[in-house]
Amino acid sequence: MKHIIIPDAPREIESADRIYPPEYEGHFSRLLIKREEIIERATDLAKAIHNDYKGKRPVLLCVLKGAASFYLHLLEALQDLRQGFYTEFLRLSSYEGAQTSGTVKARGGLHYQDLTGKDVLIVEDIIDTGTTLSHLLPVLKREANPKSVEVCTLLTKRLQTPAKCEAKYVGFSIPNQFVIGYGLDYNELYRDLKDIWVISQKGIDFDPHKLHG
Ligand code: IMP
Ligand code: MG
Repeated sequence: MKHIIIPDAPREIESADRIYPPEYEGHFSRLLIKREEIIERATDLAKAIHNDYKGKRPVLLCVLKGAASFYLHLLEALQDLRQGFYTEFLRLSSYEGAQTSGTVKARGGLHYQDLTGKDVLIVEDIIDTGTTLSHLLPVLKREANPKSVEVCTLLTKRLQTPAKCEAKYVGFSIPNQFVIGYGLDYNELYRDLKDIWVISQKGIDFDPHKLHG
């Protein structure tokens, strides 16, 4: 399946309505992908997935928290196609601020035996270096012994060195910049944005303790 490439240069959508909580004023350098474009792409990915899993019931394994919004739209598109599936959730983290820490922490209540003998489709928000998935995949295969494992990611970054792990289903290829919104965070902020943005220096420097609640 062909990736949709978000170019390094600004696009027309960037002059579209900019909707965000007012406390985030100045925290972005670029509006990268609109939610409407993501939903349209989730529908295309669902068609490709349905084509490959027709007659099967894959386990859609959501990697929390970042993939939650994408997961929802993907599920809805699969439901429209009458594709059967199971849902499971896993919480992982490898990021501290905007730097990958190199180690992956697994949390959340997934029981690997629930995946045994099943076709597993991991749903991720973004593949950056591929560290997270290159740690998760061997553990999952060893502990769960699934029938098959594939990856569906909303985003991949165009890096100088190729990622350690590739996905079968990819939403968008994006420039090598730190992105936020539509579930993606920077230190737990910005998941509440409807669209995907590139963070600005002001966004990075912002002290979340200044927010109420
Ligand atoms: P990787 O292990 O380097 O591939 O990084 C994957 C994980 O780091 C993703 O699942 C995200 O949770 C997080 N991550 C990587 N790049 C970004 C980004 O630009 N914005 C927000 N989170 C990111
Ligand atoms: Mg993630």
